[in-house]
Amino acid sequence: MSSENKSGGPMGENRVNDPVTLVIFGASGDLTHRKLIPALFIAYAQGLLPEAFTIVGFARRDYDDDIFRGMMIDSIKKFSRLPVDEETVRSFVGHIRYHKGDISSLDAYAELKEKFKDVEAYPENRLYYLSIIPSLFESAVESLKQSGLISEAGSKPWTRVVIEKPFGKDLSSARAWNTALLRQLDESQIYRIDHYLGKETVQNILSFRFANAIFEPVFNRSYIDHIQITASETVGMESGRGGYYDEYGAIRDMVTNHLLQLLCLVTMEPPGDLSAEAIRNEKVKVLNAAKLDIRETISDAVCRGQYGGDTSGKSYLEEDRIDPDSQTETFAALRLKIDNWRWAGVPIFLRTGKRMAKKATEIAVQFKVPPLQLFQHVECEEDVCDITGIKPNTLIFRIQPDEGIFLKVGTKRPGMRFVVEDVNMDFSYSGTWNKSLPEAYERLLLDTLRGDSTLFTRSDEVEAEWSVVQPILENLDQLKACAYPPNAWGMPEADKLFQGAEGCWRNE
Ligand code: BG6
Repeated sequence: MSSENKSGGPMGENRVNDPVTLVIFGASGDLTHRKLIPALFIAYAQGLLPEAFTIVGFARRDYDDDIFRGMMIDSIKKFSRLPVDEETVRSFVGHIRYHKGDISSLDAYAELKEKFKDVEAYPENRLYYLSIIPSLFESAVESLKQSGLISEAGSKPWTRVVIEKPFGKDLSSARAWNTALLRQLDESQIYRIDHYLGKETVQNILSFRFANAIFEPVFNRSYIDHIQITASETVGMESGRGGYYDEYGAIRDMVTNHLLQLLCLVTMEPPGDLSAEAIRNEKVKVLNAAKLDIRETISDAVCRGQYGGDTSGKSYLEEDRIDPDSQTETFAALRLKIDNWRWAGVPIFLRTGKRMAKKATEIAVQFKVPPLQLFQHVECEEDVCDITGIKPNTLIFRIQPDEGIFLKVGTKRPGMRFVVEDVNMDFSYSGTWNKSLPEAYERLLLDTLRGDSTLFTRSDEVEAEWSVVQPILENLDQLKACAYPPNAWGMPEADKLFQGAEGCWRNE
């Protein structure tokens, strides 16, 4: 990346205008190193940050500006998704300062306020990024308010607060937590990050559905058999995540936020316009209509698993900072229904897990099969072909990796026989655009600086998400997590969720 494209050019036109001081709480943490600073650097190098900005790293460690800047240079070099130019990095870190302080002590805020008196060095619009453990959120926001560091909603200079998940542990804690935050801040000042919404491919779901006339008319119960959403990961408890994860598990860590957000985007009604409120209103409506598809017992709709071990790695129970008797799930599969006119009777399957066969996030929309089977269908590997049953069309949103959108359709296999074989009509990002996709945090951080909350989760949306999974949390005793083999696609119990429906999990 060169400094030439720092301003001007097509990207420079999108520069954020308001000067800003961005304070990162928990600045010595992993997120700052891996994601936030590299993302801000890329925005800077592309000429997207405002002319005047200061980034303040707030943490307890005994650093000073120079030490902290040196660490940030290393982080940028290590984690930037684009090649890094030395001069641009130096000029970027010139905007970074360090504030040593204890987040739980009011003195640290008083000292920050003192520094802020120098409005040349610290522009008065403030973005506070809380990259800290959830138990400290409330007191950090209270201390900011008490110290006079939060301006009135709607006023200039503005204050915004960015919060990382988890947003609670269940419905009642999420409600209590929203109430506590909303005592200090207005909803318009709170930016709850779900980094999936910052992914380019996730944003494309709405564009694809509502910018093309051909798909939307068939996106409903008359044409769609079922939808399945998978987010499988190969990682286990690396990077010391054990402590956090054991308390939360796959349902709280992945389903209640990322997977339900994907579900919203693929099933919501078209919004009246693209404003943050219009989009979020539609998401809340569809979440309120989504429920576990329990026919007799809750295990018809939910399956929980925990990875075992093998020569490639430890079992979950042997991992660091995991209770050896833990019942926390590292795999979850759900069958949902959406009780509205469009989706009544269409099962929606969600699945996520650690230490699975492959890292893959995708949404597969499976259509109904044609009413009459006129052709023989074949499935071939090279020249060896088998006659199979008719295959439905499937539309696949490939979120990551191999980002793209694919449509599986049947076509006549060339030759003398009249047989149909499945082929892919595909659009892949890598084959279409010759540039790397922006990281989720690049987009989301710029949106917070612009004051655009479209890609952030509103308080009622968070509560609606928890409402969907709350029956699971209340019935964990009926849903014991069974062991599943590592490096596989989960467990046979998850296949039972398809009972009474067509199809099975796509393990591709
Ligand atoms: C995080 C979860 O929100 O998302 C992690 O806490 C998970 O457990 C991660 O690994 C997955 O994100 P991505 O972008 O790699 O799919």
